[in-house]
Amino acid sequence: MTGTPLLRMHDVGITAGDRRSKRTLVRGVDLTVAAGETMGLVGESGSGKSMLVKSAMRLLPRHAETSGRIEFEGRSVLGFSRRELAAYRSRDVALIHQDPRAHTNPLRTVGDFLVEGVVAGRLLGPREARQRACELMTSIGITDPEHRLTQYPHQLSGGLLQRMMIVAALLPSPKLVFADEPTTALDVTVQSEVMAILREQIRERNLGLLFISHDLDLAAAVTDSLAVMYAGTVVERGATTEVHSRPLHPYTAGLLACRPSTTAVTRLQPIPGRPISAYEAGPGCAFAARCRFATEECRQDRPRLRTVEDRLVACHRVEQISAELPQAVHS
Ligand SMILES: Nc1ncnc2c1ncn2[C@@H]1O[C@H](COP(=O)(O)OP(=O)(O)OP(=O)(O)O)[C@@H](O)[C@H]1O
Ligand SMILES: [Mg+2]
Repeated sequence: MTGTPLLRMHDVGITAGDRRSKRTLVRGVDLTVAAGETMGLVGESGSGKSMLVKSAMRLLPRHAETSGRIEFEGRSVLGFSRRELAAYRSRDVALIHQDPRAHTNPLRTVGDFLVEGVVAGRLLGPREARQRACELMTSIGITDPEHRLTQYPHQLSGGLLQRMMIVAALLPSPKLVFADEPTTALDVTVQSEVMAILREQIRERNLGLLFISHDLDLAAAVTDSLAVMYAGTVVERGATTEVHSRPLHPYTAGLLACRPSTTAVTRLQPIPGRPISAYEAGPGCAFAARCRFATEECRQDRPRLRTVEDRLVACHRVEQISAELPQAVHS
């Protein structure tokens, strides 16, 4: 992939709170997403995935501050005027939420929900918008689209409503889609259907996708590259096939070792301890307290992402420990 990436984040940090109690939520994140690329952002609850996505759309709450650089097609998102920001949010990027019911109004029809954004942003007229929404619905296998437009969110199943969210996200023809745990609320078969639809649309339209999930296997199944987050920082980043088949950071390896396998009966090895937030981390590696390989250096000095073989890893001890890491269970 050549040229300017769609999204580039450089040394992005997020803090929240007032001057007296400022908390670091995200620290020093670098990542890029190119057109046609699907990147997975993976990590446990509280690792900062949603905050990072919100910062890229400038949707953080008022008491939160973003530092570093966020660029969309080379332009500074943090420097956008109000007008540029409105255009960016309505045309360039789209967000698919985890819980569609929380983001729809039960008193308004699906049709109103789908078209109001593009109409308000003057991208399409109301009639055109409804027509395009119907075409999109048909293309992702929703039958009787005209009728669907007249229904209310509670009349649709979770899977169907999430498909509507995909339609809503794609309607303005964005260049980049953020999907924040788009299938977590769905059961497994519906989950894979929705993912297949999303992927096909991304490929057909050459969009960039930042796919957020706490599920490393799910993310690995649908992405080209992966960034693994722990306590507000990226600890490992690289091509999905490499990271998933041979993790180099003890945290990534731990995530793989603790998930149930559908093909092999093995004892699960949970990562000891609990995940922490960025502001709870001491001066050293945030994962040190849960890492069986940690030394005094790890506890005192925060490792930075560095190139190791085919990817980036933030661990002082990669070279010494990689042979001992639990590998993915594939049978
Ligand atoms: N509005 C907010 N104000 C202050 N802190 C917040 C706010 N929202 C989240 N946080 C904190 O920011 C950190 C990162 O939260 P975030 O929601 O980004 O995590 P996440 O990785 O998306 O987790 P999950 O998998 O549960 O969605 C957490 O410590 C959380 O408590
Ligand atoms: Mg989240």
